[in-house]
Formats: sequence, structure tokens, C-alpha cells
Amino acid sequence: MVEDLKRKVLIVLTVLLLLSSAQAGSTDRLSGHQCTDFQTANFLRGSKLKVQFLLFTHSSPSCGELILADDGIKNCSFNSSLETKIIIHGFRALGTKPSWIEGLVHAILHSSQVNVIAVDWIYGSTAAYPSAVENVTLLALSISQLISKLLALGVSGTSIHIIGVSLGAHVAGLVGHFHGGQLGRITDFGIRIPVGHIDYFVNGGRDQPGCPRFISAGYKYLICDHMRAVHLYVSALKHSCLMVAFPCASHQDFLNGRCLDCVDPFLYSCPRIGLQEQAGVNMRKLPKEVKVYLMTSPSAPFCVHHSLVEFHLQKTRNTVTSIEITFFSNSTKDTAKITIPKHQEMGKRLLAHSVPLCQINRVTLKYLPKSQFWRKDESFIVGKFCAAPLPLASNRTTSCLPWNLTLPSKTDISYELPTACA
Ligand SMILES: *[C@@H]1O[C@H](CO)[C@@H](O)[C@H](O)[C@H]1NC(C)=O
Ligand SMILES: *[C@@H]1O[C@H](CO)[C@@H](O)[C@H](O)[C@H]1NC(C)=O
Ligand SMILES: *[C@@H]1O[C@H](CO)[C@@H](O)[C@H](O)[C@H]1NC(C)=O
Ligand SMILES: *[C@@H]1O[C@H](CO)[C@@H](O)[C@H](O)[C@H]1NC(C)=O
Ligand SMILES: *[C@@H]1O[C@H](CO)[C@@H](O)[C@H](O)[C@H]1NC(C)=O
Ligand SMILES: *[C@@H]1O[C@H](CO)[C@@H](O)[C@H](O)[C@H]1NC(C)=O
Repeated sequence: MVEDLKRKVLIVLTVLLLLSSAQAGSTDRLSGHQCTDFQTANFLRGSKLKVQFLLFTHSSPSCGELILADDGIKNCSFNSSLETKIIIHGFRALGTKPSWIEGLVHAILHSSQVNVIAVDWIYGSTAAYPSAVENVTLLALSISQLISKLLALGVSGTSIHIIGVSLGAHVAGLVGHFHGGQLGRITDFGIRIPVGHIDYFVNGGRDQPGCPRFISAGYKYLICDHMRAVHLYVSALKHSCLMVAFPCASHQDFLNGRCLDCVDPFLYSCPRIGLQEQAGVNMRKLPKEVKVYLMTSPSAPFCVHHSLVEFHLQKTRNTVTSIEITFFSNSTKDTAKITIPKHQEMGKRLLAHSVPLCQINRVTLKYLPKSQFWRKDESFIVGKFCAAPLPLASNRTTSCLPWNLTLPSKTDISYELPTACA
């Protein structure tokens, strides 16, 4: 059995080797240079940190041009008057090329005229995670040397943007450190503690919608939430819909409608995932580590429109009130639950939906009574329903359905939402 398995592994590895040598030989007719692909490491070859820098440009986004050490940068398609994006992948358990790298390179070159340098450190990133971690400092030094060569060509530090994924994110941080914090920008993916100027917590930053919840899903269960960051970023570059986020103290506060605008500290413009200059905000006065929150849909293009929904009771109750709110548009629906604490008049919640508030066909409200065996809750409630799209600037108010609604218990009541599009 075991022998058999080993033989199969050997066959697979041989096939991989053949593929990689075949790819290394191709020449791109447009650019006239040899196309170099990512290396493929395996457990048979020695595992050293063998770094390759592959340049991709607007004119040949699918053909990696190997940047050679020494004078290689002068004699290649690198354009020093353009900005430069450096992509660093993370741990590669099987020593294979990351499946997302081509998509990211294409998405960047599709949305901007830049130099893209993909760092291939497949060899050093494979085998056991701790040995990949051991290579991080050396890798950061070698990327830093490349950047120093770019700077010597007259490239400005601020035009360099490093994009690091997973373990590659730590490398990006080290490279930034080696350059005294003088590089233009670093975008990293997937850590729970806030470490950046702006830290995006997508859907709270843990479990992502559309990812398997059970270990029976295997590898996808382990990797889906973590890799979602890359797919969000690629989607933000490829699609025109905005992924806007809101500063907030916590995910719960965000869901509970306590963070509705970006006046503080971003002065009206909310930060966006993507390549906008400085994430679309004024960085000059920005404190370190601003946590921002946003929700997404389960699949690409992921972006949603955030709305505030409120229910105002006609008279307060001496028990908690729960109301389920559902937005419907063409084929999608999204639900959120408003909870009004006892003795209070109003409850609010955030509701994320695929289309803007003004394009929603109808809203459904359902009163969920809180019946206990010794006391039955009221059979209906009366109140007002209001909603507003985010960001809700301080001089804007919610718009309400113009009458008091009577909601019988456990019954869906539907209304048209007459919100005008701005
Ligand atoms: C690099 O230099 C060689 C000659 O030294 C030249 O033939 C080749 O076209 C150059 N490549 C680029 C991309 O400029
Ligand atoms: C470099 O980029 C600039 C700005 O887009 C462009 O004007 C110039 O022609 C490019 N240089 C080369 C050699 O392609
Ligand atoms: C780099 O990683 C490999 C394993 O992938 C390990 O054998 C090697 O010792 C590491 N190099 C350094 C300098 O730590
Ligand atoms: C809903 O469907 C109609 C008809 O198919 C279409 O014209 C409209 O654009 C769709 N609206 C949204 C918000 O997708
Ligand atoms: C709200 O304030 C913003 C920013 O000061 C201003 O541009 C906008 O016109 C105001 N809107 C209303 C309805 O007063
Ligand atoms: C809704 O109820 C409130 C509180 O009782 C009352 O002041 C208001 O006039 C009612 N509005 C309508 C449109 O019936």
C-alpha cells in the first residue's frame, strides 16, 4: 500500500517536473523575451531558498520576464517611470505555484499601467511551515536588495507597493522595515490583530460567507476563509462596485448600527479595498491602526450595499422585541434581525444587500414574539420602519414608511420601499 502510494507520488512529481521545464522554454512573440514561470519544488530536490523575480507588464501580462541579478533590471521591460507592485506569496505546502497569482497579476495590469514583479520563493516556502518561516528574513533581504537597485535607477520609494499574502505578508512588513518605512504602500492579507494604518475586518474577520463550515470539506475548510482576502482584492480590481468599509470599535457595534459614517477619522471619504490612491482617504492625519468593517456576499464580486434599518415602537414594551427584516430584489434576499431592548422605543441593525436601497423591490417585516410558558407575549406590535443607505452623514436622516405598521406575530408583512435614488 505505502509503496504504491509512493510510486504514485513519484509519478505525479515527474509530471510536474516535465510541465515546469516545458513552460520555462516558451517565448512570448509580443515581447520577444523568454517567458519564465514559477518554479516547482518537491521533496526530492534539495530545499533551498531560490528566489526568482518575474516581471509582468501591460504588454505581456501572461509572460513572466526573469529579472536577472546585477544589471538585469536595466536590460528588461521594467519602466522606471511607472509605479511598481511587488507580489509575495506565502507558505506552499506542496511546492506548487499559487493558483491565484495569475488572476492577481492580470487584475492589477487590467486596472493600472504599472510594473508587476512577482516574487517566486516556492523552494524556500515549501516542506514544513517552520522551515519556510526560517527563510523569511533572507527572503526579505533579497527583495530589499532588488528594491535598492530600483531606487538606484531613479525609481521613487513612494512608487513601490508591496502586496503580501499570508506568510508573504510578514515578509512585506520586514521589507518595509528594512527601508525605514519609506516605501509607498503595503497591502497584506489575513491576520486578526490590527497592524496597519487601515485594517479591514471583512464580515468580522473570521468565518467568511460561502466557505465550508465543517472539516469534512477537507483542504477547502482549512484555506477558504484565509484565502478570501486575495479573491476580494482581485474582485475589487476587476469590478466597478465599491468595497467600502466603516471605522468601528468592533464587529458587533458595526452590526448594531453604531458606525454609520466615516467623518471620524477619515473626514467623509470611507476607505475602499483596491488600488485607489491611499485607499481613497486622507492619510496625513490618520492615526495608526484604524479598524474598519464591511460585509460581503458569499461569492464574487462580493460587494454589497450597507443599509441601516430601524424600527420605532409606538409604545415601549416591558420585554425585548425582535423583528426580522428582509430585503428583496430580483433574485436575492437578505435578512437581519432588529432587537429592541425592553423599555426602549427604538432598535436598529445593519443590513447588507447586493443592490442599493433605492433599487430594492420590497421589504418584509416579521414580528417574533418572545413567549415564555408562564406569560404570552402580545399578539402584535405597532410602529414605524425606517431605513437609510450608508454612509449616513450627520446631516442626513433615515427615510421611513409614512404610516404606523401593525405587525401580527410570526407573519411576513411586505411593503414597497419608496426610497428615491440620489
Ligand atoms: C538585453 O540585451 C541583449 C544584448 O545584450 C539584447 O539582445 C536584448 O534585446 C536586451 N533585452 C531587452 C529586453 O532589452
Ligand atoms: C514608460 O511609461 C511611460 C508612462 O506611461 C511612457 O510614456 C513610456 O513610453 C514608457 N517607456 C517605455 C520604454 O515603454
Ligand atoms: C529555507 O527553507 C528550507 C526548507 O524549505 C530549509 O531547508 C532551509 O534551512 C531554510 N533556509 C534558511 C536559511 O533557514
Ligand atoms: C431586475 O430585473 C429586471 C428585469 O429582468 C432588470 O431590468 C433590472 O435591471 C433588475 N434589477 C436589478 C437591481 O438587478
Ligand atoms: C450634508 O453635508 C455635506 C457636507 O458638508 C454637504 O455636501 C451636503 O450638501 C449636505 N446635505 C444636506 C442635505 O444638507
Ligand atoms: C403613528 O403613531 C404615533 C404615536 O402614537 C403618532 O404620533 C403618529 O401620528 C402616528 N402616525 C400615523 C401616520 O398614523
